[in-house]
Amino acid sequence: MLRRLYADTFESRRRIKPRLWDVDYCLLHGLRNEVAKCVRENVNGSSTIVDLGCGAKPYRPLFPNECEYIGVDACDNPHADYVVSPGDEIPLEDNSADLILSTQVIYLIPEFQDYLAQIQRLLKPNGSLFISTHGTWTHHPASGGDYYRFTQDGLRYILEQHGLEVAQMVPVVGTLGTGLHLRQLVINSWLRRLRLSWIAAALNVFTNLRIKIEDAVSPYGTRMSSPVIIACLARPVSKGAAA
Ligand SMILES: C[S@@+](CC[C@H](N)C(=O)[O-])C[C@H]1O[C@@H](n2cnc3c(N)ncnc32)[C@H](O)[C@@H]1O
Repeated sequence: MLRRLYADTFESRRRIKPRLWDVDYCLLHGLRNEVAKCVRENVNGSSTIVDLGCGAKPYRPLFPNECEYIGVDACDNPHADYVVSPGDEIPLEDNSADLILSTQVIYLIPEFQDYLAQIQRLLKPNGSLFISTHGTWTHHPASGGDYYRFTQDGLRYILEQHGLEVAQMVPVVGTLGTGLHLRQLVINSWLRRLRLSWIAAALNVFTNLRIKIEDAVSPYGTRMSSPVIIACLARPVSKGAAA
């Protein structure tokens, strides 16, 4: 239990305040900034937030204290307010969420139609979905498996199939950075196995600065071609039309 709490605290801190020598610095920093921007533009103190696949709720500190923040997860998770089995209905009212946050979850779900149907059901007509998932990353099954990588077209298509219209898609670490990040992930794991973590950390700083520079000079289309993560804001179409 203590070990899990320590790991959760470390992971949450890493997501909110990653260090420049962390191999995932650029994408964690970028994703955090996108969540923070979404909160600024879509959330107030009376909002109801559903964090779907909440893990340790790492982004909770970015939301106003007063908002209702409900964590849902599929595994036995002490941070979750509701634990559901894949395919089960989440025990929350239809049209009850102002914002559904689901970061780095969909690629873990082999049959994601039910998950998207729950999102569609729970969102208020004027609600928003913030979803992020892998564009390109090494295979890393968390507990079950690591099933999918998405392109902008694939993600848009499946969201539209579930009555959601994409308002914004952002590449978190663009195509040039993806190449650097993949190489650095592999080199990191080799160096750590050789107990050369300090060399890994130094190389990470260098690579992260290079990713920042190369992203800064790449146009949106280039960055979006093969990003590490796609962060997407979407809204219900039919419910909005009906409202
Ligand atoms: C990689 S973690 C991400 C956690 C958190 N969202 C974050 O960004 O740090 C994926 C989480 O999704 C959960 N998950 C997997 N399948 C799910 C499903 N069908 N419904 C809800 N949560 C699910 C896992 O249990 C895990 O907590």
